[in-house]
Amino acid sequence: MTQPILQVSHLTKRFGGVAAVLDVSVDVLPHETLAIIGPNGAGKTTFYNMLSGRMTPSSGKVTFEAQDITGLPPHRISRMGVSRSFQINNIFNEMTVRENIEVALTAYHGDSRRWYNIASRNRPIQQEADMLLERLSLTDLAVRRAGVISYGDKRLVEIAMVLATRPHLVLLDEPTAGMTPDETHRVTALVKSLAATGDYTFLITEHDMGVVFDVADRVLVMHRGQSLVLGTPQEVKMHPEVRRAYLGDAEEEIAP
Ligand SMILES: Nc1ncnc2c1ncn2[C@@H]1O[C@H](COP(=O)(O)OP(=O)(O)O)[C@@H](O)[C@H]1O
Ligand SMILES: [Mg+2]
Repeated sequence: MTQPILQVSHLTKRFGGVAAVLDVSVDVLPHETLAIIGPNGAGKTTFYNMLSGRMTPSSGKVTFEAQDITGLPPHRISRMGVSRSFQINNIFNEMTVRENIEVALTAYHGDSRRWYNIASRNRPIQQEADMLLERLSLTDLAVRRAGVISYGDKRLVEIAMVLATRPHLVLLDEPTAGMTPDETHRVTALVKSLAATGDYTFLITEHDMGVVFDVADRVLVMHRGQSLVLGTPQEVKMHPEVRRAYLGDAEEEIAP
């Protein structure tokens, strides 16, 4: 049996009397893409926040690569190889796409203040930047200022900056939110090609069911903080409760 890369067991987060995440358990296998779906407020972001260390769980346990990471601070968890997408405002608009990636790489290698000196003289960083530009199909935009590229391309730069930290596990929170259908298609294709490199395991939250069933090896459906169903896209599609919820018969509708 393959050892899971991530083991989540009975994870719970309470805010006052409300359980945003309640008793969620899931094993994630190396190199799989697991989609997490569910209506707004289902607890997806809170779940991520506990995996990345931004929030301390109320109870339960998170094990990553056989180490207990429950409640560790974000920088420790990130160092161990768990990375989540930043928001676009982490991008430096005055710098080029390539320079943004070099900053992220230089920060990862230990010194962000002198990034220019280090990056411009450091061959491994140059080569890694080239590789990331290539993997994200951003090579043609490498010398453009990040401030002038499209919204969709900015989100790709954001993903490149996440990958610069050499994560084994990547958490993507609604990576296609606000994108045009074309941009959404690019991100979907990209996540699939990154997954195919065998270097990454992805957790991805997403509202677009087309995207979910296209990229995911397995799907976890969350509802009111709890795990409702965990299975292959096919199993999830056929599940009566999911069908009810997604057909709009339930009290709560799945937001678009
Ligand atoms: N910092 C917080 N303080 C209080 N309640 C929160 C906080 N973060 C999230 N919640 C609540 O937890 C529930 C789950 O939210 P969230 O994890 O953002 O869901 P999702 O990402 O699935 O839309 C919601 O009811 C939300 O209002
Ligand atoms: Mg959310």
